[in-house]
Amino acid sequence: MKIKGKEYRTIWFENNVVKIIDQTKLPHQFIIKDLKTVKDSINAIKTMEVRGAPLIGATAAYGLVLSILEKNDQSFLKKSAEDLIASRPTAINLKWAVDRLMKRISGINSNEVFKIALNEAKKIVEEDVTFCKNIGENGLKIIEEISNKKKDKVNILTHCNAGWLATINWGTATSPIYHAHQKGIKVHVWVDETRPRNQGANLTSYELNEEGISNTIITDNAGGILMQRGQVDMCIVGTDRTLSNGDVCNKIGTYLKALSAKDNNVPFYVALPSSTIDWSIKDHKQIPIEERNSEELSHVEGVDENNEIKKVRIYPQKSKSLNLAFDVTPAKLVTGLITEKGICEASEKGLKGLFK
Ligand code: MRU
Repeated sequence: MKIKGKEYRTIWFENNVVKIIDQTKLPHQFIIKDLKTVKDSINAIKTMEVRGAPLIGATAAYGLVLSILEKNDQSFLKKSAEDLIASRPTAINLKWAVDRLMKRISGINSNEVFKIALNEAKKIVEEDVTFCKNIGENGLKIIEEISNKKKDKVNILTHCNAGWLATINWGTATSPIYHAHQKGIKVHVWVDETRPRNQGANLTSYELNEEGISNTIITDNAGGILMQRGQVDMCIVGTDRTLSNGDVCNKIGTYLKALSAKDNNVPFYVALPSSTIDWSIKDHKQIPIEERNSEELSHVEGVDENNEIKKVRIYPQKSKSLNLAFDVTPAKLVTGLITEKGICEASEKGLKGLFK
């Protein structure tokens, strides 16, 4: 998708270096950063220079490629794989990508291993682009239907950033929106700010602006009243881990939006590539919910009048705070899952009908 009119992807491999857009500096500064070692990749995932389930999966796959370049040694590679998986616990894509790449190179002789690992990482990346494009084409039908009935612009609420910046291109939740916009359907997006890291305000609104899509940032608690007033036609969010029973683990606050949507008869869709499905866990209590540094709550970052990024404390110094990064929306609150293979019910039957 575009930034200042130029097409970008979120990650690419060039001259044995992984290139990323540093998302901790957006929307104030656009910086392309080099990852040269597996440690750089782990650090980029931990500090959220790259974030979003599909993108951290791709970064982990390229991280293993960098690890092979650094030291073509089995035990170093194994340790790199473990450290990459541990770098963020909730999104399943990380483990999925690392396991897939490790499986692909197991038993390959050391002269060949770099080339094969790089090809597999590139395949993971290209696959995600295709999946997200297909999610867009499938989700477009829902927006089109609402637009035909309403004969006016479609108001869509989204949470966090499940946009192209969270994937390689297109995004998951935003892909149907981009497809609708390209087809000339009038859309307007309510963007949840998404405290504490403000991925909605800093990233979703930014990328929608760059694509010329009308959007309005709202506080995380404003969705309820907008739904009561009939100002939201549908919600679309992403997911970091989708259980086989259709429960969806996504950015903290998603669950409350789904409850509000249910109470107000607003359709609540979740968009996902199959790489976020965890077939192994049956109970959402087994999902490791990431707890991040409480400083993300107590401090805020922005730019001053000289356009310099500044960080200030907003909480009382003595107060404790708890920073849970994800929550789980039960399948019963989800209207449907928009996947690369089509739309299905949020249930084991629905998912298995498309994927097994
Ligand atoms: O903590 P983040 O910014 O990595 O969380 C991202 C989300 O919660 C997204 O909604 C999710 O990864 C889906 S990405 C298409």
